[in-house]
Amino acid sequence: MKRLGVNIDHVATLRNARGEYHPDPLEAAKFVKKNGADSVTIHLREDRRHINDFDAKKICSMKGLIVNLEISTNAKIVKKALNIKPNYVCLVPENRKEITTEGGLNLKKNKKIIKKIILKFKKKRIRTCLFINASVKDIKIAKELDVDCIEIHTGRLANLVKSKKNYLRDLNNIKKCSILANSLGIEVHAGHGLDYKTTKLLKKIDQIKEFNIGHFIIGESIFFGLKKLIQNFRKIIK
Ligand code: PXP
Repeated sequence: MKRLGVNIDHVATLRNARGEYHPDPLEAAKFVKKNGADSVTIHLREDRRHINDFDAKKICSMKGLIVNLEISTNAKIVKKALNIKPNYVCLVPENRKEITTEGGLNLKKNKKIIKKIILKFKKKRIRTCLFINASVKDIKIAKELDVDCIEIHTGRLANLVKSKKNYLRDLNNIKKCSILANSLGIEVHAGHGLDYKTTKLLKKIDQIKEFNIGHFIIGESIFFGLKKLIQNFRKIIK
């Protein structure tokens, strides 16, 4: 069975837009679990633009909830994550000016620091994952780093699919990399920019065991909830 992780960062984005308490990411985490997600993903960014320390602590301490915490390799954030003790950790690159995570980690350049970080989390029995581009070279380095899982950055594939361009080369490359990683004993995940169409394409790759999806789920759910909310207010003001 493939697993679904739901990224709830943008619930916090919406809450932060008002600077108040609603919608509460903690309630979103409970809701997501109750409705069938296998895990919840949150990204504690260095600039705290969505999830903040308090959210991360609360969400990670919820009983029965599996939390995948995305973090950069920044020493302060790593320390924080070790204290918060999520079930899973996923190392991602972080660039202050980016709107969202733009690509995978540069494993070659950051091999030493990443190795140290992986060891720290492994000691605490926290599942480790590296967010990488679909690259044979990076998968071989990931093996040397003894990481539990890789998450393949699917942003480029998603953009090609959305703009109706030829995506087959990218899809085949993701498949080739997934087969290689799996053969090396690394669990394969996929994430970034996924919607229904891209997920349907990727689910055909047997080696992908987990999908982490955020923006599309949170965005699209507005259209499912709006009808009910409008009906509720019509009743109230009748
Ligand atoms: N996986 C990782 C490692 C990410 O950094 C993100 C974006 O924060 C996602 C998955 C989710 O991407 P999206 O919000 O585009 O679905």
